[in-house]
Amino acid sequence: MKIINLNDNENKLYYIGGVVRDEILGLKSFDVDLTYVGNAIEFAKTLKNAEIIKINEPFGTVRVKIDGKEIDIASTRAEIYEKAGHLPTVTKIGCSLKEDVSRRDFTINAMAKQYNSGEITDYTGGLEDIKNKQLRVLHDKSFIDDPTRILRALKFAVRFNFTLEENTKKLRDEYLKNVNYDMSFKRVKKELIETFNLNSQTAYDEFISADIYKLITEKDIQKPDINIEQFVNKYKNLINPQNIWLIYVGTVRDLENLEPTLTKEEKKILDDFTLIEKRNPQNDYDIYKMFEGLMSETVILYGVMENSDIAKHYLDNLKDIKISITGQDLQKLGFEPSKKFGECFEFILKEKIQNKHLTFDNEIELAKKFFE
Ligand code: CTP
Repeated sequence: MKIINLNDNENKLYYIGGVVRDEILGLKSFDVDLTYVGNAIEFAKTLKNAEIIKINEPFGTVRVKIDGKEIDIASTRAEIYEKAGHLPTVTKIGCSLKEDVSRRDFTINAMAKQYNSGEITDYTGGLEDIKNKQLRVLHDKSFIDDPTRILRALKFAVRFNFTLEENTKKLRDEYLKNVNYDMSFKRVKKELIETFNLNSQTAYDEFISADIYKLITEKDIQKPDINIEQFVNKYKNLINPQNIWLIYVGTVRDLENLEPTLTKEEKKILDDFTLIEKRNPQNDYDIYKMFEGLMSETVILYGVMENSDIAKHYLDNLKDIKISITGQDLQKLGFEPSKKFGECFEFILKEKIQNKHLTFDNEIELAKKFFE
């Protein structure tokens, strides 16, 4: 539905990028990008019923509120990559549409659709590539300028079931043989999240076999002999969907480059895995104690990397075992609080792990036995 009311002769406002691609593919878009050929900020000021919410002068972007809905409008802009792998610098606001689309990643993301007339402008052959289900870069330096596009290619390939056009694939493979690690890993992380939160084994297989993982580490990887997608699906209700990517990317053991970009929770998931990975539990109690208190994502990563049976057994059979009696119950039985209480709880827990149907009364009996 059109929110912005334009004069019939206004022809400089366009839908651009992903939203045009998705509409052609018959898919729902995540967000709607609009671009104005000229200065979007000045344009926004002329709009009736539009309240200006936010202006980003250097980028020429503006957020407006119309009928209670917030919309971002960008100015057409030209950019250069002064430092490969980092954010580009804006060199011109209000350039031609052709110049604006030529800074973009793939032909399928470089189409524009006029807001008023719906006419498609396709300077780079995006429609043809959509027909052929291909991802094609716009120039040979694309991956050098912005290596995150290698992950974007993987993401789009999996999302749309597309393949990389021959020269694009060649450029990708050349880059991966000689990665420049002086890049913005914050941007890499964003693409890793968007790629692997799709929970796709196909994406992971390609990530490893095409050496795309070399974007984050120089070290080789030991590919786990397990279908991660199936494993994650089995335990989906235990995983925060925002963390799925960590189960995949956690298999790349050297994550030093990504480390500064990780949140506290993400670090905990990975660090806890490092603490347990070498353990060799001998019985159910050992398994329980090994995983006790850890986030499910850590247990699942262990399942993927080390031994799926142990992790599965914990998640399927042991995770929810808890003893019912408390210190108060022990005091009611006449025992004085001491560190013996802790030992008693462990004693009961050990029994309960062997027989999870123990009742509260059974636990009381065991406590009495313990203090005998
Ligand atoms: N873009 C680019 N290079 C990047 C990131 C983005 O050229 N590294 C351009 C593409 O034209 C893309 C647009 O910016 O279509 C918007 O980027 P983004 O919102 O990340 O992607 P979408 O194509 O909208 O895809 P998604 O559906 O995943 O949001």
